[in-house]
Amino acid sequence: HRPRALSLAQSTSDSLHLGNYLGALRQWVPMQDDFEAFYGIADLHALTLDQDPALRREQTLLGAAQLLAAGIDPQRSVVFIQSHVPEHTQLAWVLSCLTGFGQANRMTQFKDKAAKAGADAANVGLFTYPILMAADILLYQADKVPVGEDQRQHLELTRDLAVRFNARYGQTFTVPEPHIIAAVGKIQDLADPTAKMSKSAVSPAGLINLLDEPRVNVKKIKSAVTDSDRTITFDEVAKPGVSNLLTILSALTGTPVEQLVADFAGRGYGDLKGAVADAVSAFATPFRDRTLELLGERGELEAILADGAARARDVAAKTVADVYAKVGL
Ligand code: ADP
Ligand code: NA
Repeated sequence: HRPRALSLAQSTSDSLHLGNYLGALRQWVPMQDDFEAFYGIADLHALTLDQDPALRREQTLLGAAQLLAAGIDPQRSVVFIQSHVPEHTQLAWVLSCLTGFGQANRMTQFKDKAAKAGADAANVGLFTYPILMAADILLYQADKVPVGEDQRQHLELTRDLAVRFNARYGQTFTVPEPHIIAAVGKIQDLADPTAKMSKSAVSPAGLINLLDEPRVNVKKIKSAVTDSDRTITFDEVAKPGVSNLLTILSALTGTPVEQLVADFAGRGYGDLKGAVADAVSAFATPFRDRTLELLGERGELEAILADGAARARDVAAKTVADVYAKVGL
């Protein structure tokens, strides 16, 4: 059969932003051609954040609707909600008993998050999060996992656990490889192009939320911070704002940056911003319409997710049965 790919998205905000789409979700769409893909919404991971239950439930559905609106096809791929497949937590426990405390303690993302929250405020779920992520991947015997730089260490832990389990109990897990996605540079904040676009941005002025009204985003793009120079060239250090606009335009249109620089020779920043606004709208307007439509047909959306969970469980239950038998449960 086709090799398997797996990726889960966190659903901890109402709307995906342009960085999430260009840096991650967009690459999942063509992967459906080459892989038997499992794509989910990681609501168990989202539980590491203190959040209102009704809002959490809403964001989970909204996350799933956005996957579908972005072009994930639930006929070809398995689209599911993590908590609908109880095998994730079952396998996570077995794996946590196989993970050294010292090894878990070396995860830099936990250190960063704990430092931000204050050590006493950080919960144990945040600490064991990489082990749940390992379970997410190993349950489906995934060959490839699309990962950004921020998840590399977690994938290493996953590989380690798979190798350790296989060595101790016999061949059980596929050892997953990172799927390196065609590099779209980091998308930067439009109002502060030295910082990456992030949902935790201090000011919303530079954040393109894909579910915002198109005219709101057009306004943000037209107000993007550039520089006092007037030439359109790509130089991330000296011209971070203009370079960011070129990166976005190139990613959305498929035109190489060098070609864009040539096309815009002698033209002003206003023209460049106009082209970026058009390209963003061309994607975001139908994306937003489709997401809202899916949310309006809630029963249909829930049926898609129930079907996805059943298909995911077919695979996950086999893995857990094998694991339980091997460890003596
Ligand atoms: P945020 O930084 O807004 O909190 P997440 O950490 O939830 O976003 O990231 C979700 C996914 O989107 C990750 O794969 C991450 O690498 C990608 N991503 C987030 N922000 C950007 C960005 N500005 N440019 C490119 N990719 C991004
Ligand atoms: Na983040």
